[in-house]
Amino acid sequence: MLTDNHGRKINYVRLAVTDRCNLRCFYCMPEHGLDWLSRSELMSYEEMLRICSLMVSMGVEKIRITGGEPFVRKDIMQLLTSLSKLNGLKQLTLTTNGVLTAPHVPELKKIGVKSVNLSMDTLDRNKFFTITRRDELPAVLETLEQLLKHDIDVKINAVVMDGKNIDDIIPLVELTKNLPVSVRFIEEMPFNGEGNHYSHLHWHYMRILRKIQEQFPNIEKLVDAPHSTSYNYHIPNHRGNVGIIAAYSRTFCGTCNRIRLTPQGMLNTCLYDGGVLNLKDLMRNGLSDEEIAQQLLNSISHRAKDGFVAERLRNEKGPVHESMATIGG
Ligand code: GTP
Ligand code: 5AD
Ligand code: SF4
Repeated sequence: MLTDNHGRKINYVRLAVTDRCNLRCFYCMPEHGLDWLSRSELMSYEEMLRICSLMVSMGVEKIRITGGEPFVRKDIMQLLTSLSKLNGLKQLTLTTNGVLTAPHVPELKKIGVKSVNLSMDTLDRNKFFTITRRDELPAVLETLEQLLKHDIDVKINAVVMDGKNIDDIIPLVELTKNLPVSVRFIEEMPFNGEGNHYSHLHWHYMRILRKIQEQFPNIEKLVDAPHSTSYNYHIPNHRGNVGIIAAYSRTFCGTCNRIRLTPQGMLNTCLYDGGVLNLKDLMRNGLSDEEIAQQLLNSISHRAKDGFVAERLRNEKGPVHESMATIGG
């Protein structure tokens, strides 16, 4: 079992399979995109499978595939299918923007994917275009429909952006009236790939909650799952739930059970630590599984206590210019 120096069990890996994306959400990357990684800088599927298999043998039970956008990487279903067969893995899941996902939903169901997190910041086509710089809302809605039709649990992620989608909060909450989805509002984080747009957090999670309570005063708090990133709520007579993720306030660090792998094979033991071990290099230098496991254990035994500490240590090296697409959300 992987346990860190603060006694937290690590049983969840978030694997970013690419930094590339077919949207340009302004809170994530600039219009011209990022300085994309070249093919040789990326871990191959064989390398990803090897590391995941090793991690599963060390106690990892859940793998979430993220990006960039996972479906932008060629033959991603091949990797998902191989991962789904790992002995000991209890949950394989993914976070997607939904633009290319709909045709793959039957296959996802077939290989045992039970839940998908879908990014969708608005239900208005024009606003979607303003936020993502692409006119793809219909494709995302089609993905939502397919997922529900195939009985796959859906969590909708909406980043709350001052001046951009505040009027969309209530319509998104209203989706939970007739649909069995969890709509989660996320505090915006300073990972826009440029390092110069973020001044401070405008929409703290309490402010988001107050806004929802104004419209739905009878909203009830639910009991959250042990490692939940979100505070979860239910509105009486609605089919779905509402959640708020204090991603910037980082209220859930104390129970953090996750580590991250970037597309180039860097291990992040915290979203804010900037990478502590290059697993791809270890593999390409011919290290054995045992040797890699040893280095992994060593990194995990030097984990920052929370995002604030990780960020402070990180800032000593220089300001953050990263995008969520290179860290993997
Ligand atoms: P599940 O709990 O597995 O459903 O997923 P999740 O909420 O962790 O994953 P998802 O990919 O949907 O991410 C939702 C939001 O939570 C994103 O904005 C993430 O960046 C944020 N988030 C996820 N993990 C962390 C973390 O360790 N620290 C912080 N600060 N934010 C995180
Ligand atoms: N702040 C908060 N959430 C973000 N995401 C991407 N960039 C940011 C940011 N700067 C979200 C995406 C996706 C999830 C993995 O991370 O919307 O749903
Ligand atoms: Fe693409 Fe996700 Fe970044 Fe938007 S947040 S540009 S969908 S990687």
